[in-house]
Amino acid sequence: MNNINIGFIGAGKVAVTLGSYFKSRGACVNGYFSKTKASAKNASNLTNSQEYFSIDALINDCNFIFITTPDDEISNVWNKILKYNLDKKIIIHTSGAHSSKIFCGIENTKACGFSLHPMYAFSKKDGSFKNLDNAFFTLEGSGEKLFQIEGFIKSLGNTVFLINDEQKPLYHLANVMASNFVLALISQSVEILDEIGIPNDKAICALMPLVLPNILNIKDCGTTSSLTGPVERNDICTIKKHLEVASISQKNLYKDLSKVLLNIAKDKNPTRDYTELFKILNSDI
Ligand SMILES: NC(=O)c1ccc[n+]([C@@H]2O[C@H](COP(=O)([O-])OP(=O)(O)OC[C@H]3O[C@@H](n4cnc5c(N)ncnc54)[C@H](OP(=O)(O)O)[C@@H]3O)[C@@H](O)[C@H]2O)c1
Repeated sequence: MNNINIGFIGAGKVAVTLGSYFKSRGACVNGYFSKTKASAKNASNLTNSQEYFSIDALINDCNFIFITTPDDEISNVWNKILKYNLDKKIIIHTSGAHSSKIFCGIENTKACGFSLHPMYAFSKKDGSFKNLDNAFFTLEGSGEKLFQIEGFIKSLGNTVFLINDEQKPLYHLANVMASNFVLALISQSVEILDEIGIPNDKAICALMPLVLPNILNIKDCGTTSSLTGPVERNDICTIKKHLEVASISQKNLYKDLSKVLLNIAKDKNPTRDYTELFKILNSDI
């Protein structure tokens, strides 16, 4: 950790949270440059680090340069920094979907490029980093510096997965399924409860004792053992009732997800006959 000087280009949620976390673990965070001065100032205030007014000043001071802009801005920023002296610099972006191949032409510089994705939902930029110490990081890239970055993340107390560039889209798909899609499902549930007169704030509170123990069960026992509900029980009448009241889009979602649950249910209860349920889920009703 001693020879690492960290700078962030793009002072948003990931940059502020990671910067605060790295600092809390004793790492040297030099500071932030961002599209707007206000964001760089806010980030540097929260992390007690420097606000940079130019990219070249940040590059001069730092050897670990994080590009933490939205995904679609990473290559623009990379093209901007390409013109500076990148000797011995480690350039890291934090996109889950893109690989280090986004750093086009890096082989003609003396820098090394990586993607480092924290498997964590960053929703705030207030300097808090609750439970980030439990997050896994996924590192992709090549060259000798790979192990320096891996060592740095491990020194924070986090686990690191190493993957290759071709695996990144699938890897990110897995993250989206578990994170964004859970949010989408909860929002569907809240909308349906609203239709029967339960207001959104109450609905979210009411759903939590349903959702959270479920997640904790999955953590403790895995998906198969944690499976409950009408698909697992083979409750055909109940499932038909749901399909009768669902809108067309809810019905499609319901059937697609129930097919996934059915496969898990079959593993859990190999002697139970799910033939009729299979037919219903694959029919037009
Ligand atoms: N959010 C998550 O849960 C999460 C999780 C893992 C990985 N990631 C990845 O982390 C990266 C950052 O995500 P985020 O959620 O932190 O995004 P964000 O909150 O929207 O922050 C992005 C920051 O980039 C700055 N920016 C935009 N264009 C720029 C440019 N051309 N030059 C310099 N700064 C620029 C913006 O600046 P201003 O504020 O100055 O306008 C903004 O503060 C993305 O690659 C994302 O895929 C996100």
